[in-house]
Amino acid sequence: MPTPATSPASSAAPAASSGPAEPHAPGDSDLVRAARRQPVSRTPVWFMRQAGRSLPEYRAVREGIPMLESCMRPDLITEITLQPVRRHDVDAAIFFSDIVVPLKAIGVDLDIVPGVGPVVARPVRAAKDLDQLIDLTPEHVPYITEAVRQLVTELGPTPLIGFAGAPFTLASYLVEGGPSKNHEHTKALMHGDPQLWDALCARLAQISGAFLRVQAEAGASAVQLFDSWVGALSRADYTRHVQRHSATALAAVKDLDVPRIHFGVGTGELLRLMGEAGADVVGVDYRVSLTDAVERLGPDYAVQGNLDPALLFAPWDALERRVREIVEEGKQAPGHIFNLGHGVLPSVDPDVLTRVTALVHEVSAR
Ligand code: CP3
Repeated sequence: MPTPATSPASSAAPAASSGPAEPHAPGDSDLVRAARRQPVSRTPVWFMRQAGRSLPEYRAVREGIPMLESCMRPDLITEITLQPVRRHDVDAAIFFSDIVVPLKAIGVDLDIVPGVGPVVARPVRAAKDLDQLIDLTPEHVPYITEAVRQLVTELGPTPLIGFAGAPFTLASYLVEGGPSKNHEHTKALMHGDPQLWDALCARLAQISGAFLRVQAEAGASAVQLFDSWVGALSRADYTRHVQRHSATALAAVKDLDVPRIHFGVGTGELLRLMGEAGADVVGVDYRVSLTDAVERLGPDYAVQGNLDPALLFAPWDALERRVREIVEEGKQAPGHIFNLGHGVLPSVDPDVLTRVTALVHEVSAR
């Protein structure tokens, strides 16, 4: 079990709109408060891909079980999601799943190939290929609801972050058929057949939004929309072909009072547009400083980020300096959640993550 968060600020100021929050309830945690741009007791921290191959206990429980199967077993989802919370004392759990799980759940023929990523049997290239993409309903993913409920009970005051892939990033896997460096088929479809692109993204926005909603309704305290590969686009393409679909996905949980985090890699030029899609928090990768990000975003958004995951391999002195700088820069933001600029690399020493978490907590204590 995670240790209960100590949050001196929590008893003084209940969360704004989630009703009479219990002191030490997840809705009143530093993570949720930072996302809402409210005062915190210290900068909250979690790591993208904190659950995964960097942890020996993860490798042990996953032994012999394919990735997608492990995402459909509530017992395993719960155990894997809790592992990094127990180990690092992070301020949030990220639900263990994958962005392609909802696609698998509605019957898309795909697999997650170790060392490669998602691979799709029948890539989307023509209108007939959209038949694979039916609406997602909670009945498609009972194991998600069950796992979230179990987790919320186990986690107590520690918030659970639910997530989904954004339409562009999901479309990229579906159109390319697998991971892609240049996204050439995706961009060719976007520009060559904008109507089909729109129809594809509209379906993905429903699926993505419904997947977020299932998690939020089962008790997740925040959600993150991962548009990992959207940094491949210009502002014009993002505005014309992507933003409204991400907005639809985020709007699916608007009435549920869970803060919404919107993240992408290489999205320095898109930060404002990603905020305007309906986010409370905009994820910043390590290519743009938090100072620049805050200047671009203005006062209406909290930020999340932005330690370069490769710096976890640097000598402690260098890493410590950078962590302190990021915490300082984050203080200029209306709200700051400490994270990496992208996911934990599998070969990282997990003890370094524990040490970074403790350092952020220590230097940011108010
Ligand atoms: O701790 C967490 O962050 C929670 C779990 C999580 C996974 N995938 C587990 C996973 C999350 C949030 C994701 C999201 C995801 N999946 C994204 C967006 C985030 C990002 O990194 O940009 C993307 C693009 C995917 C697609 C995907 N799935 C990739 C590229 C891979 C890696 C392939 C590989 O083997 O290197 C996966 C597989 C995957 N998803 C693993 C994990 C822990 C590794 C599989 C394993 O452990 O066997």
